[in-house]
Order: sequence, then structure tokens, then C-alpha cells
Amino acid sequence: MDRYAHITGWGAYAPPRIVTNEDLAHVVPTSDAWIQDRTGIRERRIADEGEYTSTMGIKAGRRALEVANLDPGRVELIIVATSTPDYLMPATACLVQDGLGATRAAAFDLNTACSGFVYALSVGASMIRAGAYDNVLVIGTESMSRVMNWTDRTTCVLFGDGAGAVVLEASDRPGGLLSFSLGSDGSGADLLTVRLGTRLPLGVGALATGETYMKMNGPEVFRFATRIMSQSTREVMARAGLGVADIDLIVPHQANTRILQVAAKQLGLPLERIFSNLDRYGNTSAASVPIALVEAIGAGRIQAGDRVVMVGFGGGLTWGACLLEWSVDPEGRTWPAWRRGVYWTRTRLARARSLLHRADRRLAALEDRLRRRDNLRVNGPPDPDTNGHARPPAPDA
Ligand code: UT7
Repeated sequence: MDRYAHITGWGAYAPPRIVTNEDLAHVVPTSDAWIQDRTGIRERRIADEGEYTSTMGIKAGRRALEVANLDPGRVELIIVATSTPDYLMPATACLVQDGLGATRAAAFDLNTACSGFVYALSVGASMIRAGAYDNVLVIGTESMSRVMNWTDRTTCVLFGDGAGAVVLEASDRPGGLLSFSLGSDGSGADLLTVRLGTRLPLGVGALATGETYMKMNGPEVFRFATRIMSQSTREVMARAGLGVADIDLIVPHQANTRILQVAAKQLGLPLERIFSNLDRYGNTSAASVPIALVEAIGAGRIQAGDRVVMVGFGGGLTWGACLLEWSVDPEGRTWPAWRRGVYWTRTRLARARSLLHRADRRLAALEDRLRRRDNLRVNGPPDPDTNGHARPPAPDA
């Protein structure tokens, strides 16, 4: 029997702190007029202290699971798309898994910058279609403000923070993710960078070079983006045996209104067919497509049976598009208060289970230590030659 991957839940989270263009004009030599005219952005959300890529991802993920009516303890796989992870190690996805109390889930990060969510959705849906998993939680979450150089007006006015998530579930009902198309061109790797990694020695030296901040060749990336958005959209439609005229809505990466205008013209579609919330969030990288998707659903722009293209492009260079046949009636997913209460209790219980696991691990370690101490008391110190370690090779006679 054929398997299909449907989106059954969705949720987004944006930090409450709003930073307007006017606010930024006090920080760098810029103006509301320049930013609005050249990008379409009016304001963006910035994470406060204590908010991280993982915590925003958890909030978005929890909302998506609630809409899907899926207990965190039943989640099988979590993919977190991000280019601003909490740490190099462990994966942010593991922090999200723990925070959600998704005790049975596998979890990994995926970093293809602003295309990350589209890549992650393609991977998740492919896993479901292959029969590996019955459900996957796909999250795009970013703390772009933490890698900004707040003295560089060419980048700091563009980006914002936030998270969005969807739940994918297996079904034998045709629909859901119909096709995807992904691409990359590493020859453009230097056009958009945050060089924080092992190639540049970490520490004060790296910080002094300023290389650990985001740097972007805006005009070059702009040229690439205007070409690739329409190309990628056409490709994903062709892979499903459809044409551009079959698209009901495009939910694109939110980088610049002018990119969306060029793409609409190239595709021969009215601009209204391309959803945008860029004015209120700026560019949230891997979080921009899922946040826009959630807002498009909330605004009644997506109905059951609609064909929706999500398209992303960015650092790498990378790009990708997914075509979805929307199958859920969003109205039917508005739960009554009692239902939300039950879910809230369930998520807290799942989190408590996760905390119990942590406590249990600590207890096991303590038990081990005490047992070894008792052994030492009864049997004395182990013979250094027979304590389980291999002997060093004997010197040549
Ligand atoms: O998410 C990944 C994908 N990212 C993108 O798709 C971003 C693509 N690029 C862009 O959206 C645009 O290239 C930008 C919005 C980044 C820049 O717009 P632009 O029209 O390409 O500007 P520019 O870089 O060519 O700069 C034009 C002028 C320069 O001044 P001069 O040299 O002409 O005197 C800049 O210094 O605008 C100046 N400028 C600013 N002025 C006021 C650059 N940033 C600012 C600013 N405020 N914030």
C-alpha cells in the first residue's frame, strides 16, 4: 500500500520583544525609509536573555503537537533545521527532544541555512514514505540576533528570531507532500557566512577577527535568490507532473519583498499568490517558511485540497522547494478549552518523564560509585597489572 506524508499539526513562536526600524536607526546609520524601501521589513522579533534556539523550537513544537493531537511520548523523530544551534554539540534537536519530553524520539539537526526547513521537510516526508517512521516533528528555529554584528547596517537590519514547526504523519490517503526538489552550489559558500567553527580557532582570537558574525554579500545573494526562487518552484511542480498555474499559494523564504516581486513576475503569478509576513518578522532564516505557513493557515489562506509550494534559498548556497497538497481542514483543528487542558497536562507529564530519566541516570551513576567504594573497602586496591587495563608493550629485551 502506498504511504503518504501529511501535515497534521503546525505551530509557531516569536519572541515578544519587537524591534522596529526606528529603534535600529538609533543603533546604526540607517532609516525606516531605507529598510522598508529596499527590503519591505518594518520590524522584527528579538529573543530576550534566557530564550534560545532550542527553547523557541520547543514552544513551536509543542503547539504543533497540540494541533496534531499527538502526545510528545509518541513522537518518533525530531528534525531541527537551524544555522544558529545552541551549541556545536549536542544537537539542538536533542535539547528540543528533552524539553518536549519526547522520550521515544530520535533527533538530529540539519543545517542548510535559510533552506533548512524545506530540506528537513523533504527528509521527514521521505522517511515516512519509506516506512521508517509514522510521524516526524519538523522544526525550523533560529536566534539570528546572536550572530549579528550590531554595528553592520548591511546585515543587522535584515534578520530576526523565531521558530515554526509542523507534524508530519503517515497515511494511506493520497496527498500531503507530493514532490520536492533540492539543490546546492558550494562555489557560493563565501557569499553568506558565520565562520564560527573548528576551522577558525575558537576563543578570543576568533572573536577579535569579527569573523564569528554573519557576513553577507547582499547584492550577489539577491541575484542568486531572484533566479533560484522561480526555477525551484517550476522544478518542484514539474516533478509532480503539474505546472505553475496549478499553484494555489507559494509560502516562500522571507528575505526581501523585491525578491518575491521578481519571482511573481518570472512565474507569471499575481503577487497575492505569494504569502508574505516579512514586514513583521524580517528574515528568520530556517524559521521563516514555517512561521509564514502557520500565519497563512491562520489567515484562512490555505484550504483543504490546495496545492502549496514552500520554497527556500540561502547560505551554502542552498535552495529547495516542496509541493504539498493540503489535506487538513484547519477549522476542524481548533480545540475546545477542555481539550487544550488535557493536552497541556499530557505535555507536562511527558516533560516530567524526561526529568525522571535524568534523575534516574544520576542515581545509577551514584550507585556505581558507591559500589566501587565498597569493593575497594572489602577487596583492597586492584592489582595495577590486572585492573582491566591492557599492559603497555614490554620494552625490547
Ligand atoms: O536569507 C538568505 C537570503 N538572503 C537574501 O536573499 C538577501 C538578498 N539581498 C538583499 O536583500 C539586498 O541585497 C539587501 C537588502 C541586503 C541590500 O539591498 P541593496 O539594494 O542590494 O543594497 P546594496 O547592498 O547594493 O547597498 C546600496 C547602498 C550602499 O550605499 P552606497 O555604497 O551606494 O553609498 C549601502 O552602503 O545602501 C547602503 N546600505 C544602507 N543604507 C541605509 C546598506 N545597508 C543600509 C542600511 N541603511 N541598512
